Amino acid sequence: MRTHLPSRKVVAVLTVALLAAGMAACGNSDTGDNGDDGKITLGFSQVGAESGWRTANTTSIKEAAADAGFDLKFDDAQQKQENQIKAIRNFIQQKVDVIAFSPVVESGWDTVLKEAKDAKIPVILTDRSVDSADKSLYKTFLGSDFVKEGRLAGEWLVEQKKAATGPVNIVELQGTTGSAPANDRKKGFAEAIAASPNLKVIASQSGDFTRAGGKQVMEQFLKANPKIDVLFAHNDDMGLGALEAITAAGKVPGKDITIITVDAVKDGMQALADGKFNFIAECSPLLGPQLMDLVKKVHNGEEVPPRIETQETTFTQEQAKEALPNRKY
Ligand code: AHR
Repeated sequence: MRTHLPSRKVVAVLTVALLAAGMAACGNSDTGDNGDDGKITLGFSQVGAESGWRTANTTSIKEAAADAGFDLKFDDAQQKQENQIKAIRNFIQQKVDVIAFSPVVESGWDTVLKEAKDAKIPVILTDRSVDSADKSLYKTFLGSDFVKEGRLAGEWLVEQKKAATGPVNIVELQGTTGSAPANDRKKGFAEAIAASPNLKVIASQSGDFTRAGGKQVMEQFLKANPKIDVLFAHNDDMGLGALEAITAAGKVPGKDITIITVDAVKDGMQALADGKFNFIAECSPLLGPQLMDLVKKVHNGEEVPPRIETQETTFTQEQAKEALPNRKY
């Protein structure tokens, strides 16, 4: 019996069609383009909305993603690591092109970062970093040098108190426990004051980077310590919360207690210009445009530097008065 084999012409057409389908499939997995509208899809997991800094950072990211024409999938983790891990897993499932996130704490990311790597989705760290030994788990880290911020705060204090003969009692409002900015600012500040034995941190506790936390912990500090000379708050919001506690305790912020903070958001700068804060080390939240540029580059397979540091400055009360009218956030 004669079998009906396909003609050479039919085989050739089928082969071309199969090859084309195969190439299209490879193209999808290589570039990560979801086969949708051709836009780059960026999955971004944000820490939360704990501070004025964070609000400004979220606005910067959303605006820059829209300007770049990206399809942004934004998730607010409400300061919880498990929510961020869940969001990253969702992004992987949705086959986004690039994942970016600001890790709420430094440790515990290796497993989920490995999952992203296995799925061939590049990851960019922004604002905060992770302590993973395997640097191949992410493409780059864009953000501030938090140790430097703490050091600048400490160096300013050392200079201010260089003539002091008696003990200078310092209380410290730390950021979120286990977060890079809390760990690093504490470290930088401690290093800067280490050679000044009369500068002593008498109490140090987390206020979770929030105004409410700053107020509550400062109330405890004031109750437990009759003589507080200096407050070092790891961000403006905790410093602003502490102002309420200090005033309620009958003390004058900026005079009875020297207040040093980090960030330089508008409300913090206003408190500095008004003489309620004494010094701020800046931490810029305007990371959106640089981040989108990096997203484009890693999506195109271009090399990017492993670390990109944000440019920042410091402010005294006089400098805050000058800068305030043009402050964008
Ligand atoms: O990671 C940056 C820090 O997070 C900011 O200093 C603080 O205000 C925010 O919550």
